[in-house]
Amino acid sequence: MKWQKKIFLALIVICTVSLLLHHGGHFTWNMEAFRFGCSHQYPGSKPKHTNIVFLKTHKTASTTMQNILFRFAERNNLMVALPVQACGHQFCYPRSFSSHFVHLHTLRPNLITNHMRFNKTALQRLMPNDTLYITILREPASMFESLFTYYSRHCMSFRRVPNGSLEAFLAEPFRYYRPQEVESMYARNTLTFDLGGDKDHPSKDLAYAQNFVAEVEKVFSLVMISEYFDESLILLRHLLSWDLEDILYVKLNMRTESSKKRLSPGLPEKIRAWNSIDTYLYEYFNASFWLKLSDLGLDCVAKEVQLLRQVQERLMRSCFGGKMPLPRPAAEIKNKDLRPWQPSDKVDIVGYDLPVNISHEAQEHCLKYIMPEISYTRILLHSQSLRHRRSYQNRPPQKSHILQHHMRTTLPRHSQVRLSQPAPSVDQSPDSGTESKSNVKRSEGTTKLGL
Ligand SMILES: *[C@@H]1O[C@H](CO)[C@@H](O)[C@H](O)[C@H]1NC(C)=O
Ligand SMILES: *[C@@H]1O[C@H](CO)[C@@H](O)[C@H](O)[C@H]1NC(C)=O
Ligand SMILES: *[C@@H]1O[C@H](CO)[C@@H](O)[C@H](O)[C@H]1NC(C)=O
Ligand SMILES: *[C@@H]1O[C@H](CO)[C@@H](O)[C@H](O)[C@H]1NC(C)=O
Ligand SMILES: *[C@@H]1O[C@H](CO)[C@@H](O)[C@H](O)[C@H]1NC(C)=O
Repeated sequence: MKWQKKIFLALIVICTVSLLLHHGGHFTWNMEAFRFGCSHQYPGSKPKHTNIVFLKTHKTASTTMQNILFRFAERNNLMVALPVQACGHQFCYPRSFSSHFVHLHTLRPNLITNHMRFNKTALQRLMPNDTLYITILREPASMFESLFTYYSRHCMSFRRVPNGSLEAFLAEPFRYYRPQEVESMYARNTLTFDLGGDKDHPSKDLAYAQNFVAEVEKVFSLVMISEYFDESLILLRHLLSWDLEDILYVKLNMRTESSKKRLSPGLPEKIRAWNSIDTYLYEYFNASFWLKLSDLGLDCVAKEVQLLRQVQERLMRSCFGGKMPLPRPAAEIKNKDLRPWQPSDKVDIVGYDLPVNISHEAQEHCLKYIMPEISYTRILLHSQSLRHRRSYQNRPPQKSHILQHHMRTTLPRHSQVRLSQPAPSVDQSPDSGTESKSNVKRSEGTTKLGL
């Protein structure tokens, strides 16, 4: 009996040591963040907030934020609402969000982050009542330059411009811009449009912008600012009682330096005038962002940012074989799932490849940090559908599942925004709670779309 006890004890020691080796790092960072950072609470003393709407705006580093949320959801076994296949990987953007766009295998969600046009009423019916709303804004001049380049082939307002010249567009925007055209939302007040506002409201009506800002402020607990992404994450982590490891990231969906244009003098002012509602939004929320940072304490925020960057560097080294990874053009990335979507041959969106010689365990862990949004959305839908089937496998088959199966299709990115007809309404299973039964509209759309 004695030797059994010894083996048992030895096993315990081995387990403890390996546990410490695996999780010790996280533990130390959290303690450091607690000691030097802005926390007043002992790490882990308050439950992490898990019910979140992140309104993903365009060209604002929101893909990186989405990746943070996807990984958080996977680690914590949370449900992420994902679009039905007919919507592509976005919730039928640019149509206003509706719960009909949500895949029924992802209902009763904790989180929602894929691109959508914001609709507060529809989201409030879908999400738990303690959901926190978060979004991100970017300085309008640099954002517009990014949109202009990224959507140069997709947005007609930009395609009409001779020589693809941003200067030419801004000299006479109404010569090229048609407010009613599909994809016109990339050409004016895109942030306002994504937030559900009127991108074409006359700019002299200042009251509109003021009311709109007040509405956004009422709904959103945190408006992050792209220019201060790390500081935004610190505010996020405190709002949600998350640990430092929950906000680790690798930058995603970036352009190569050569596809960025330097703005000539005078251009930023013209862009801001053309996008006046976005500019009003941005200035307001940048100011309130800095007030929030001061409330938390600029010194401790700076320390947490520094700590975040240290831990991030360690992560990159462990993931990319001892070196920082070099972002590469998509064509050079061996793993197809890791190639980001390319909007046109004029813009290179860079991604990463994993070194092949790291451990399988490290590959699994690191892969998710660099997974582009379309691949990650697909993988998440697959794993959540499996989970859904397991929990409902004893139920009799439902018609809606069969219907959905027929509708399955893979629309290329952006094709959904060219639909002038209503996108398909997908009826929801009786277990979807909320508004499902009264809104059943089956079959409409499938034939019109010619799927
Ligand atoms: C927002 O959603 C609600 C509830 O689903 C719907 O009644 C309303 O028409 C939607 N708003 C827009 C602008 O589509
Ligand atoms: C939120 O929902 C829970 C149960 O779903 C309920 O007990 C609670 O009272 C609700 N809270 C509010 C503020 O409506
Ligand atoms: C477009 O480029 C061509 C050749 O570079 C130039 O001659 C022409 O004036 C440009 N057009 C405009 C509207 O800038
Ligand atoms: C945001 O606000 C801060 C504080 O007022 C200011 O220093 C900074 O220049 C603003 N950032 C931008 C990009 O406008
Ligand atoms: C993987 O290979 C690279 C160069 O090929 C090397 O620098 C790195 O140290 C290797 N990493 C591991 C974990 O063996």
